[in-house]
Amino acid sequence: MSALLAVSRLEAFYGASQILHGVDLAVGRGEQVALIGRNGMGKTTLLRSLMGLVAACRGEVQFAGRDIRGFAPEDIARAGVALVPEGRGVFGSLSVEENLTMAARPGSDGRQAWTLKRIYELFPRLRERRGNGGHQLSGGEQQMLTIGRALMTNPDLILIDEATEGLAPLVARDIWATLGVIRAEGIATIVVDKDFRSLAKIADRAVVLSKGAVVFNGAPAELLARPELLGRYLGV
Ligand SMILES: Nc1ncnc2c1ncn2[C@@H]1O[C@H](COP(=O)(O)OP(=O)(O)O)[C@@H](O)[C@H]1O
Ligand SMILES: [Mg+2]
Repeated sequence: MSALLAVSRLEAFYGASQILHGVDLAVGRGEQVALIGRNGMGKTTLLRSLMGLVAACRGEVQFAGRDIRGFAPEDIARAGVALVPEGRGVFGSLSVEENLTMAARPGSDGRQAWTLKRIYELFPRLRERRGNGGHQLSGGEQQMLTIGRALMTNPDLILIDEATEGLAPLVARDIWATLGVIRAEGIATIVVDKDFRSLAKIADRAVVLSKGAVVFNGAPAELLARPELLGRYLGV
């Protein structure tokens, strides 16, 4: 099976400091990958690099058979990748509905699977809040809206950074359930979250980053069963 995303020897830099040191990572169509690791290990930098937001990169990023490394974020989005950034990025002065409709675009193959109606079915709370400004939303509602915006682009791959950060447990549970829906849709995802145990339960595969390199890539259950890895790379 050829991978949807194939990253090889990816290096990324902020000024003179090298953050990613040759990352190799493949994601299959519809696969859900948990990206975990301690703070500062390069998870956000990796997601931002994949989205074209880190200019100084070396290596290869193949997406759906094309090398997209060096593409502008807009072109990467058009190719079928969507980012749900850490800290979200809802437009506060626009309504919920405006935030959703302005993101809408057909997928890479022209499909328009995601409509406002479907987003509201997935997140009934957003329908109730459709006329509210982005700045009036709770953290959980903002995260739903940001995921909704990503879905409105009909992506083949969604990158979700710190999926449940700052959310109450009940709200976090909704976000985990949403990841199940995304998987059922056949959309591939790379999900970052500090709650790696919850993430490991739903993910097809776990990838651990340490100091900008992949130090584990395998079954989530295998990672959880190896206390020496958890201690060394996750500090638990
Ligand atoms: N804009 C930036 N400029 C310089 N260094 C940065 C920038 N963003 C992140 N870093 C550094 O890059 C490293 C990796 O950060 P990051 O990718 O945010 O890690 P993680 O998401 O795993 O916590 C850290 O040492 C961090 O301080
Ligand atoms: Mg981060």
